[in-house]
Amino acid sequence: MRKPIIGANWKMHKGTPSEAEEMLVEFIPMVKDIKNVDIVIAPPYTAILKTLDTVKNTTIKVGAQNMYYEEKGAFTGEISPSFLKKIGCQYVILGHSERRNIFNETDELINKKLKKALDNNLIPIVCIGEHLEEREKGNTKNVIKNQFNLTFDGIRKEQLKKIIIAYEPIWAIGTGRTATPEQAEEIHVFIRKIVEDEYDKDTAEQVRIQYGGSIKPSNAKELFNKVNIDGGLVGGASLQAESLYQIIKAAEK
Ligand code: PGA
Repeated sequence: MRKPIIGANWKMHKGTPSEAEEMLVEFIPMVKDIKNVDIVIAPPYTAILKTLDTVKNTTIKVGAQNMYYEEKGAFTGEISPSFLKKIGCQYVILGHSERRNIFNETDELINKKLKKALDNNLIPIVCIGEHLEEREKGNTKNVIKNQFNLTFDGIRKEQLKKIIIAYEPIWAIGTGRTATPEQAEEIHVFIRKIVEDEYDKDTAEQVRIQYGGSIKPSNAKELFNKVNIDGGLVGGASLQAESLYQIIKAAEK
């Protein structure tokens, strides 16, 4: 059985050490008895060290929201995978739609980052998802297939099993408009079928596919009850300890 995983994507919030610590000090005791859900907090870079320090001796893991694919050099403003790994991060979010849309990241760039993250033993959480116009034109599955093929190009089976895929319909992110559990499940089944076709059944059964887009305590349970939804990537509702805890509770199987 796949273990559900909840990622807290803080985006550009709680970027000071004290803001991160304040949230985590409230959150950590709430989740101390949660056993069968992986929990990953992805704060802004400036709060990563404080987050790592605050969650040490807990089962909570820490991730970054982005990285570059080079190890070091003249890349002003960028952060390398080995920096993240060496300070203790275990996860990295790649290809979030805000990276794609605001910062023009392409599938090809995300593919390069993905390979480097894996080389550095970071667990990538790779986001894919369609725009509203694409869904309305009935193109969702084509878009997903195309993103999958380009983003995961050259990724081996053993690598894919470690990757977390996040299906995040762009029209549902930060909009309050959640995909229905049926809409999400349909695409999760579709992604799993792509994995089966491109790799094999065993890989398809093992790979964890999260849903992301306006997850809240009030809709989390019905989403996570779907067989192919293995937890979620949570933005807005991950900023408060209580709502993040409620979402994690809803993911317990
Ligand atoms: P949201 O963000 O929960 O605020 O919609 C999700 C995400 O962007 O990962």
